[in-house]
Amino acid sequence: MTNYVLDLIGRSIAGGRALPEHEELPDGAETNKDAHADVTALHAPAALRKECITLSGVFRSYANSRGSFTPALQNIDLEIEQGEFVCIVGPSGCGKSTLLHLLAGLDRPTTGEMAVDGNPIQGPGTDRILLFQELGLFPWLTVRQNVEFGLKMAGVSRDEQRDRARVFLHMVHLSHFEDHYIHQLSGGMKQRVALARSLALRPKILLMDEPFAALDAQTRDMLHDELERIWKETSPTIVFVTHNVREAVRLGDRVLLMSFRPGRIKSQFQVTLPRPRHVEDSDVACLSKDILGQLREEIDRSFNAEYASEEDH
Ligand SMILES: Nc1ncnc2c1ncn2[C@@H]1O[C@H](COP(=O)(O)OP(=O)(O)OP(=O)(O)O)[C@@H](O)[C@H]1O
Ligand SMILES: [Mg+2]
Repeated sequence: MTNYVLDLIGRSIAGGRALPEHEELPDGAETNKDAHADVTALHAPAALRKECITLSGVFRSYANSRGSFTPALQNIDLEIEQGEFVCIVGPSGCGKSTLLHLLAGLDRPTTGEMAVDGNPIQGPGTDRILLFQELGLFPWLTVRQNVEFGLKMAGVSRDEQRDRARVFLHMVHLSHFEDHYIHQLSGGMKQRVALARSLALRPKILLMDEPFAALDAQTRDMLHDELERIWKETSPTIVFVTHNVREAVRLGDRVLLMSFRPGRIKSQFQVTLPRPRHVEDSDVACLSKDILGQLREEIDRSFNAEYASEEDH
């Protein structure tokens, strides 16, 4: 029982998945350096920004029930700069969550290299926090205790826990709710508690897996504004997965479009529109349309592949 609770706690701080066993590269699988399509290098001048995350030739496959391997990610080469806000879109099952879990150190690539500031990613660390959709808040703790809990697990002193919880709950406008329990909050408030809990750990890198997908449009707009404000104030590097292309353009410095399985980075779009942006802005809509056109091609491929595999059965 104790192990179960510790496991739950560990996952809820670091993310949703347990660390799986390492699997071998399937026979015949190769990394194909030419597999990228239309990838453009669109970074700011190197002198202005420092490289933070680097992925080189990353490949991840999973054993499936048919006794073979499903290639989830193939040949990912990626550089993300310190303080950059990168959004990732792609059809369902293309490996977006897999990529975040690799970055969080909760999973390992089958082949390839991943590093933060030149140091290989070898497991989870408090410099990288994964904020996942299910949130993993503890219903038996108050809002403040939920925020303090992550800090306690990270070995932060009691006084510092209190101070940081206060600062970050204030940042997400939840100071008045610090003694509430989770069931007494709205969906958007729960998202803000999860955000405060992650930010209180002062991560260098914030990994967000469809964090706002379940929220209504107004709450999502409000959280976009808050996330952008907090990002400006605390400057983490953010990798944000979403199915909502407008959300990606609203928030990102760069949008990565992933192809259908095996997931590769098909295209990149630099978003130079001035901030703050709004999902309804015409410029946001215009760029979103271009991205959506390419995304639809990948979604069609995924439907066709699923249709074909159903016909085979
Ligand atoms: N632990 C696992 N074991 C086996 N297969 C897995 C595992 N995790 C992911 N996969 C497979 O890897 C592929 C990519 O999954 P992933 O969850 O990364 O997709 P996704 O892009 O996040 O999809 P969605 O948009 O639906 O969340 C899928 O085919 C999935 O079945
Ligand atoms: Mg996912």
